[in-house]
Amino acid sequence: MRRMPDAITRMVSATRRHYDAHHFIEGGSPRIKWWRQFLTDFLPDEVIHDALIVDVGSSVGEISRGLIDRGGRLVCLDVSLQSLRRCRVNNPEAVVVHGDALALPFADQSFDHAISIGVLHHTPDCRLGFSEVARVTAPGGNIVVFLYNKWNWYNLVYNGFAPVRKHVPLDRVPNWMVALMQPLVKWHLGQKLNAVELRNLVGDALWTPRATFHSLREIRSWGTEEGLTYLGYRRFFLGYANVVHFRKPGGRVKGVRREPRFKCLACTSHEMVVGPEAVECSECGHAYAIEEGIVRVIE
Ligand SMILES: C[S@@+](CC[C@H](N)C(=O)[O-])C[C@H]1O[C@@H](n2cnc3c(N)ncnc32)[C@H](O)[C@@H]1O
Repeated sequence: MRRMPDAITRMVSATRRHYDAHHFIEGGSPRIKWWRQFLTDFLPDEVIHDALIVDVGSSVGEISRGLIDRGGRLVCLDVSLQSLRRCRVNNPEAVVVHGDALALPFADQSFDHAISIGVLHHTPDCRLGFSEVARVTAPGGNIVVFLYNKWNWYNLVYNGFAPVRKHVPLDRVPNWMVALMQPLVKWHLGQKLNAVELRNLVGDALWTPRATFHSLREIRSWGTEEGLTYLGYRRFFLGYANVVHFRKPGGRVKGVRREPRFKCLACTSHEMVVGPEAVECSECGHAYAIEEGIVRVIE
């Protein structure tokens, strides 16, 4: 098994613990509808119809839901098992995978398209995550990533908040204080959240263990380094993030209906057989158990 440096493993574990305790918001149908519409500009219906799409960092799967409803076939991956349990309920049609964005357990070029919305900047190595997303996308495929904007007030707020984050656990913040965020949230999302979801959102914004901020120029240069074609971007609410669209050069092979292809993280072979109880490597025998309908790549 390829070993990540300890500091990276510790940071991924801290992030996992955070989102297991406070999964990202579940806004229900208004949020699903909003994202469904927003992504249509990048991934129109004819492009995603019957396509195999990976949602890296799917959380509870609301963005995936919108793509499934428009005809996509989704593979949802997240580091938070608790979030994925909700994802299974929201998206029974999807293949749900408990794994790490920094070591995607998928074969090279195995997806028609890839999205990663608000995820890679929470990993200890955003650049590596970007490269993983590019690796698993097939020629002709679209890649849509949402990353925090370096040149924005939120960069200052998140980093300035570090002492509070360090000394005051999110669970200790009284409800009335969390509720102060409701007007901003309503403005941003166009919907009010209940107390639990509001706390989850505030947790994501201020208590998440890691967030990095990236300029559009930097992200575009990553695309160039990965051999991707830059297609454009949209600024997100008050400019706190950029949603950037790339395409992997090359033609899509017509008439090919892709199925999820796993990669063995123990021996790097792409020959893995998907069975009812496990995904098993034909080369070295390493297996990812399937429990509660979730492919368990990480323990
Ligand atoms: C802000 S949420 C975004 C969720 C979803 N994409 C959405 O917009 O609704 C960030 C998600 O990234 C996941 N995440 C963070 N680090 C990750 C990693 N290394 N691998 C996989 N998922 C990760 C978290 O568990 C969390 O569910």
